Formats: sequence, C-alpha cells, structure tokens
Amino acid sequence: MTITLGEGRTPLLEAPRLSARYGIELWLKWEGANPTGSFKDRGMSVAVTRAVEDGAHTLVCASTGNTAASCAAYAARAGLRATIVVVRGAAAGPKLTQVRAVGGEIVEVDGTFSDAFAHAERLASEPGHVLVNSTNPHRIEGQKSAALEILEQLGSPPDVLTLPYGGGGNTRAYALGFGDRLPRFHPVQAADRAGTVASAIRIVEPVHRVDVEEIVARTGGSIVTVDDEQIAAARDLLGREEGVFCEPASAAGIAGLERGTASGGERVVCVVTGHGLKAGA
Ligand code: F0G
Repeated sequence: MTITLGEGRTPLLEAPRLSARYGIELWLKWEGANPTGSFKDRGMSVAVTRAVEDGAHTLVCASTGNTAASCAAYAARAGLRATIVVVRGAAAGPKLTQVRAVGGEIVEVDGTFSDAFAHAERLASEPGHVLVNSTNPHRIEGQKSAALEILEQLGSPPDVLTLPYGGGGNTRAYALGFGDRLPRFHPVQAADRAGTVASAIRIVEPVHRVDVEEIVARTGGSIVTVDDEQIAAARDLLGREEGVFCEPASAAGIAGLERGTASGGERVVCVVTGHGLKAGA
C-alpha cells in the first residue's frame, strides 16, 4: 500500500518579470504546493511506504523543521509514531505546530544539527524504528520525481538548475532524476551556515557534501554562497515580482541568480522548496 497525501505534480511556473531582470528564461518549480508545504513530502511518501512494508512502528528524523512536519504527517497517515529531533529554538514555530497537529513527538537537543542527527541515529537503532532523514535512500528516490516532472513539463532538460543547499540531499535527488541529461547545477548555500536567518538550511556540516561537489564539477556549475541580506532580498523579490511567497531558505536560488549564475537567454529552473507560511513572522 502506498502511503500518500497527494505529493508531487507541483506547478512549474513561468517567471516573466524575473526572466526579464536576468535576461534568461526562468521557471519556478513550486514545491511549496506539496501537502505539508515543502519538497520533503516526495521522498517521505516513498520512505514511509517502505518503512511500513518493513514492519516499522516508529519513524525518527532530525530536522530543521520541514522534514519534521513531513515525517509526522506521513507517520500519522500510516498509523505509525513519529519522533522528531530538533535543535532547541532552531525550527520555525509553524513547522513545530504542523508536527504537533498530526501527533508527532518533539525531542529538543542542545548543540548543532549534527548533534540532533547523531541523537536521531541512536534512537533509530532500536528495533522497529526507521530513520527517515535523507541518508535513507528511499527519500532520494522519491525526491528525484521532481526532476522527472520538469523533464515532462518542459519537454527537455533546462540549461541550468538552481536550488538551496542545506545537507545536499535534494541536489543529489535532482541529479539522479535528470540522469544523463544533467543541467548545470548551482546549489546555493548560506554564508553563515551556523546562524543564518534561513533556519531550514542552518546546517554546518552537509551530509552529502562530497556528492554535491562531484555533481557541480561534473555539470560545470558552482556552489554559490549568499549572505542573509541577499536571501531576504531574494525572498521579497520573488513575492513582489512573481506573487510566490516562500520561506527564506527557499529563495536561495533566486539570490544566486542575483549574483549572475545564469545569463544570455539560458533556460533556468529555480527550485522554490517551501511555503512562506512555514517561516512565521
Ligand atoms: N529548502 C528547505 C525549505 C529545506 O527545508 C531544506 C532542508 C532545504 C531547502 C535544503 O535541502 O538539505 O536537501 O540540501 N531541510 C531539512 C529539514 C534539513 O530538516 O527540513 P537539502
């Protein structure tokens, strides 16, 4: 049985005003349109479906908030328990509201995301528990569906793909989905990984760093670094110019375009990863 909340099949939106601004053909893959408001739902459906098949009773994850909301929702859908590990004070309030609304249990730890992840790994080593972070291969398999949709929606791969870079799982998923038709990859990270306002990507040590660097090198792209002011400005720009309200981390790709990652009429897909309502005020 597939555990689903109707994830995926998200819009690929034209962005005429921002296209003109950068001299490119820009498309927005609007992942805030997923059931819990972020791209995490794609991979969570697959990972939770597999966890049920394997006889699990409890899902575990460490999260900056969006994986948490998704894990808890899919656990509820499947009739499983969810234990969510977050760094104290680090996840946006509305994301924790989402977790509680569907009956997830929140465990707070002090330290960094790596500490939360280590704690989640310990919890998940108990029988009947399954870790649903992006180190779970089913998560990546599910998330690659976004790239397959883009191929369908555009009819061919774009020249350039840009997206936020936190742990790097999503970058890996898109590379897997595009297969041998890879666009140039520009993952965009926060300059202050430890303290950025973009709390969703507040991750000091990206778990998929080696793979992300390999994908960027293979496609002739670059890892772009932007500061908090640039992230905030990009979030406002996306809202005002195109009517798309995303959370700060999700505007990282636009912040990268402001820095000139694409030009000359290139066809660009910018992945807008999560809804603005998740970020709080
Ligand atoms: N955008 C949003 C809105 C996110 O929540 C995340 C990651 C990313 C981008 C980065 O994706 O880690 O695959 O490079 N959020 C994780 C979480 C860490 O716990 O929700 P990545």
